[in-house]
Amino acid sequence: MTHNEAVTTQFPDSPVSIYDRFTNLYDLMFRFNGYRSSMERYLRETPLRLPADARILDAGCGTGLLTLALLRVLVRPSEITAVDLSGRSLQTARRAVRKLGDSRHKVTFVQANALSLPFADESFDLLVTSGVLEYLPLRDGLREFARVLAPGRYATLRYTGHPDGLLGATASLLKWAEEQNLTWDVSPTPDGERWGSRLEIYETDPAEEPDMSKWTTQLAFRLADQ
Ligand SMILES: C[S@@+](CC[C@H](N)C(=O)[O-])C[C@H]1O[C@@H](n2cnc3c(N)ncnc32)[C@H](O)[C@@H]1O
Repeated sequence: MTHNEAVTTQFPDSPVSIYDRFTNLYDLMFRFNGYRSSMERYLRETPLRLPADARILDAGCGTGLLTLALLRVLVRPSEITAVDLSGRSLQTARRAVRKLGDSRHKVTFVQANALSLPFADESFDLLVTSGVLEYLPLRDGLREFARVLAPGRYATLRYTGHPDGLLGATASLLKWAEEQNLTWDVSPTPDGERWGSRLEIYETDPAEEPDMSKWTTQLAFRLADQ
């Protein structure tokens, strides 16, 4: 799939996005169908451990519903950059943020393609995106998102074998980190541990390698910031 085909919301040979055509309808519908409040509730229930003045990118912000939820929930001041292809959606988002009038945060709107973001590598501490990845070729979209994100520190282990062995591989990684006196990015909550990020990346395509005992999985657990 080429980048042009990938930007399915844009009319051919035109800067206009289909989201320019129904901006008001989208905004109205998603404000009142519970979507906006559900994002806000999720952010409240899953507090983000962010430093003051954290640089946040809302990739594909649309009419700004996720940006607004962040503004309502974040306790510390932040610098939010909200990007979208649709100029009309950006106008609506800009108006809504102005109306909220929260001067603790700095919000900048940029009209751009999420597949070629006009930002330097490692420009952001956090990237949020909602309802956008389905428009992008996943690999290209995630690669571009990863490019602009500042890296955290992870301890990783690559395991080759049947996925049944992943429990043992996880135990080995946890034990190794303890021996190295490494501290995980994890905190206790009444519902159990909450990790900053704990990934199992399945690297083998089952269509290419049906033998599960040959599958490779990478474990990547985030370490606490120093
Ligand atoms: C379903 S809406 C989601 C909007 C917003 N994130 C929300 O949660 O309400 C999808 C948005 O993605 C934007 N979009 C789609 N492809 C994009 C691309 N390649 N670059 C930037 N924005 C894109 C559209 O313009 C639209 O505003």
